[in-house]
Amino acid sequence: MDNSIEQIQQEALSQLKTASDRQGLEALSVKYFGRKGIVTRLLRNISSLPREERPAAGKNVNQLKVLLSDEIEKALQRLERSTPEPDDRIDVSLPGRALLKGSLHPITQITGRICDIFTKLGFTIVEGPEVETDYYNFEALNIPKNHPARDMQDTFYVSDNVVLRTHTSPIQVRTMEKEKPPVRIIAPGKVFRCDSDLTHTPMFHQVEGLLVDEKISFGDLKGTLTAFVHQMFDTETALRFRPSYFPFTEPSAEVDILCVICRGKGCRVCSQTGWLEVLGSGMVHPAVFENVGYDTGRFTGFAFGMGVERIALLKYGLDDIRKFYENDFRFLRQF
Ligand code: PHE
Repeated sequence: MDNSIEQIQQEALSQLKTASDRQGLEALSVKYFGRKGIVTRLLRNISSLPREERPAAGKNVNQLKVLLSDEIEKALQRLERSTPEPDDRIDVSLPGRALLKGSLHPITQITGRICDIFTKLGFTIVEGPEVETDYYNFEALNIPKNHPARDMQDTFYVSDNVVLRTHTSPIQVRTMEKEKPPVRIIAPGKVFRCDSDLTHTPMFHQVEGLLVDEKISFGDLKGTLTAFVHQMFDTETALRFRPSYFPFTEPSAEVDILCVICRGKGCRVCSQTGWLEVLGSGMVHPAVFENVGYDTGRFTGFAFGMGVERIALLKYGLDDIRKFYENDFRFLRQF
């Protein structure tokens, strides 16, 4: 009996040394202390020994039991200290996961820039409804019932007398109805036209400008727009005022800027002309003043309207307006 206990002990201790993980140690524990374990069986057998042998045998088996269970427990603790649970492990050498940063849409950025420039020139920002009445969108702006701008192809009609505004000019009328001169406003916002190709989207953005006071001349219009273009692009960007027609301004002018790509030499972007059309403008038509009750003998004013997408394309050197509205992250994150 002594010999066999001695042998069991040695075997168990050498097995303990080679058990390198938790699983191995637990298997050993079962092997010796499980229901059919070696030590368990030895303990059970004591009662079947002759009475005089029982005390010594009991003592020996008990010593073995205490020793082995101690060693297994110690080995388990050593293992725990040297190898933390996988969940607790942090690999500090791994690269971090970058958070996606939000940013303003390029059209919002350019609108903001335009508004900044005019705010510094003393203009106040105002807004108006995108769903507009026929009166404000057309009638009050001296656009008669049979004008081609009312053609069903250009205008989204909500009902007979309600449209999606086709330009930001109705805000001129809404402002003048509420305020007496001097008026100095810019009005950014969405506008809608039934049109879609490389340079047109059914929804786009405009910034309207209006200045009314005594003795306002076409020279003031030229000076203001020149200051704007020089700040938006640079002071080398020349302007050209080309006679044009709008029902709500007289005289009217379309404003071209020297091509920002070729600087006047002629290229694909400016269709070899050296110039780019960027906005419509003119002196407010007396008929518009009459519609809002302004004294046409006393007040004059100028107005202008520009397409934000057009300015953005030129500023960023792009050629397809639709890219702005495809929500393609690879495109948008460049700005
Ligand atoms: N509303 C005109 C357009 O959308 C632009 C414009 C505004 C022209 C103000 C003159 C004065 O084309």
